[in-house]
Amino acid sequence: MEKKKYYITTPIYYPNNNFHLGHTYTTIVADVLKRFKRIQGYDAYLVTGTDEHGQKIEETAKKAGQEPKEYVDKIVESAKKLWKDLEIDYDAFIRSTNPEHEKNVADIFTKLYEKGEIYKDVYKGHYCTPCESFWTESQLEEGKCPDCGREVDYREEESYFFRLSKYRDRLLKYYEEHPDFIKPISRKNEMVNNFLDKGLDDLSVSRSNFDWGVKVPFDDKHVIYVWIDALSCYLTAIGYGTDDVKFNNYWPANIHLMAKEIIRFHVIIWPALLMALDLPLPDQIFAHGWILFEDDKMSKSKGNVVYAEPIIERYGVDALKYFVLREFTFGNDGSFSKDKFLQRLNSDLANDLGNLVSRTIQMVVKYNGGIVPGVGEIDIVDEDLIEMATSTTEKVEEAMDELAFSSALEYIWKLIRRTNKYIDETTPWILGKEGKNERLNTVLYNLIESIRIVAQLIEPFMPHTSMRINEQLGIAPMGWESTRNFGKYLPGTEISRGDNLFPRLDLEKEAEILEKMNSDLIKERSLDKKVEIVDDEMSKEEISIDDFDKLELKVAEVLECSYHHKADRLLVFKLKIGDETRQIVSGIRKYYEPEDLVGKKVIAITNLKPVMLRGIESNGMLLSAEKNGKLTLLSTLADIESGAVIS
Ligand code: MSP
Repeated sequence: MEKKKYYITTPIYYPNNNFHLGHTYTTIVADVLKRFKRIQGYDAYLVTGTDEHGQKIEETAKKAGQEPKEYVDKIVESAKKLWKDLEIDYDAFIRSTNPEHEKNVADIFTKLYEKGEIYKDVYKGHYCTPCESFWTESQLEEGKCPDCGREVDYREEESYFFRLSKYRDRLLKYYEEHPDFIKPISRKNEMVNNFLDKGLDDLSVSRSNFDWGVKVPFDDKHVIYVWIDALSCYLTAIGYGTDDVKFNNYWPANIHLMAKEIIRFHVIIWPALLMALDLPLPDQIFAHGWILFEDDKMSKSKGNVVYAEPIIERYGVDALKYFVLREFTFGNDGSFSKDKFLQRLNSDLANDLGNLVSRTIQMVVKYNGGIVPGVGEIDIVDEDLIEMATSTTEKVEEAMDELAFSSALEYIWKLIRRTNKYIDETTPWILGKEGKNERLNTVLYNLIESIRIVAQLIEPFMPHTSMRINEQLGIAPMGWESTRNFGKYLPGTEISRGDNLFPRLDLEKEAEILEKMNSDLIKERSLDKKVEIVDDEMSKEEISIDDFDKLELKVAEVLECSYHHKADRLLVFKLKIGDETRQIVSGIRKYYEPEDLVGKKVIAITNLKPVMLRGIESNGMLLSAEKNGKLTLLSTLADIESGAVIS
C-alpha cells in the first residue's frame, strides 16, 4: 500500500546574518515532526531553504563589500553545516537564487498577469526597506512603518499589483470552513480583527528601485516582490514546474511552520496567491512564539544573540533539542537562559535519564555478568511499571497530534522517573545480597525492557541518544509499535557498557564557559563579515489598549544598587515604589556604575511574574531605551513621587 504523504516546511530564512537559536528552534521542531510522522508510517517530506533576494540582502552585502550572491553563499554554507550538525533530516534545501526556482517564479508571475490577477499601476506611498513593504499614509503609525516602527521613504513609482482585495471574502469563508487552518486559534482572531475586518488593499508585487531579485519576465525594469519569490519556494522545492508527479504527490503542504511575525504573509497573501493559481491550500499554518533571551528580546545590536553551535559542540545536539522542545510551550513565547538550559541538562538528562541507564547497566553487569536475565513472576510493583511503560505511547501520540512537544516529552520523562522509582522500590542491591535471584532477575529484566521502550519513544526527539542507549542494550531499534507491548527484549542478550550519556555538570563553571564560547562566536562572525552589526530585531505584532492595560508601570526610586555576584551583565536594585520596597535585577551593568544610580527615579514594570536571575529573585523590570550600543534608563520629565502610576 502506498504511504500517506506528509509535507512540512520551515520558513525560507533570510541569509542576511548567520542563523541563531530562533531559526534553529523552528527547524528542530520541523525535523522532530518529520521523524515522528515517518515513524507513524507517513512518507514525510521536509523542506527548508533560504530567501536570498531583496533590497535588505543587497544592502547588507554592500556593507560587507561583497556581491549579494557571494555574501549569501557563505551564510548558506554555514546554515547547511548547522543543519548537518543538528542532524536535521531535510529532504530539500531550496535557495531562491536557484535558476530553476527563478524561472518558475517568473512563470508564476506571467501566469497571474495573463489571468488578470496582476495588473500595472502607479504606486504612491511609503516604503519600509527592512520589511520590504509599502504602506499608505493612513496605515503609517506616527509617520513610521506600522510593522516595525522604523523610518519609511515616500515613493511614487510604477508597480505591478496583485488583486488581493478581491480575496477577502473567500479567505474569511475559508477560515470559517477550515477551523484548523490557522493555529493557534488566537492567531486567526488577530488576523481577522487586525487585517481582514479592515478590508484588504491590492498588493504591490514588484519593485523597481533595486535589482537583486527575479526580473518580471515581460518588463525587466521590475523585480518580483520578495515574498512572492519566497513563498513560491514551498512549491518549487517539491517540483512545481519541473516534476509534476512529485509535485502532485506532495502538494498541498500539510503544515507550514513559522513564528508569529510572518503569519500574515502565510494566511492572507499565500492562500490568495494559491487561489489565484487554482492550487489547493495547505492544511495548516502554525505560528509558534518567539524565543526570548534571558527575558529580553534578542537582537544583534544588544549583543545577546545566542547561537546553537557552541551548545552543540559542548553538550551535543540532543541536549539542545530536548531543551527547546521541553522548555517552551509550542505556540507561546519562551525565554532561553543558559542557567535554565544547564539546570535541565543536569536534572532531566543527567539525573533522570543518564542515571537510569547507567545504574541499570551496572547492575546487570554486577549481578548477572552483563547478560539480561529472563523474567520470573510478576508482582504488583511490576504491574504498575508495566502499565505505565505500555500506556505512554498513546499519550505521546495524543500530545504530538496537538504539536504539544513539551507534553509529549513530559510523558516520556514520567516513565523515566517511574522507572527510577522502581529501582528504589525493589532495591536490587538488597535482593542481590539476600540471594533472591529469581526476584532480582525479574527486576533487572523489567528495568531493561522499560529502558528499551524509553529509547524507542525518544527516537524522534533525540535520535542520537536513542541510538546510544540501544547500543548499550545490545539491540537494534524495534520500531514504534513495539512500545505498546512489554516483554519484547530478548532475555540472554548481552549488554555493553558505554560512556555516561549525560555527565553531571558544574553549573556555574559551565555557564561561564558557554557565555564565553557564544560571545567569541559573535565577535568572530561580525569581524568575518566586516559588517557593522545590522539590527535584525523582529517587529512586534499590533496590540490593543487592553493588552497595554495589562502592564502595571510605576515610578520607582533607587534605594540601593549593587553588582550581581554571579553575573557580569547584571545589577541588583532595591527600589522604593510608594510604600513598598522591591528587588529588580537588570542586565545593564555595562552601562552604569551602581553608585551613580542611587537616588534616581526610574520606570518599572511591577506586575511581571518574578524570575530567578542567576540565583537572585527579580520582581519586575526597569525600562530603558537602546540604540546603536547606547542605553539609558527611562525616567520622568519632572520629578514625581515614587509609586506614581504610568498610563
Ligand atoms: N524570509 C522570511 C520567510 C519567508 S517564508 C516564505 C523570513 N526569514 S527570517 O530569516 O526572518 O526567518 C523568520 C523565522 O525564523 C521565524 O518565523 C521563525 O521561524 C524563526 N525565528 C527567528 N528568530 C526567532 C526567535 N527569536 N524565536 C523563534 N523563532 C524565530 O522571515
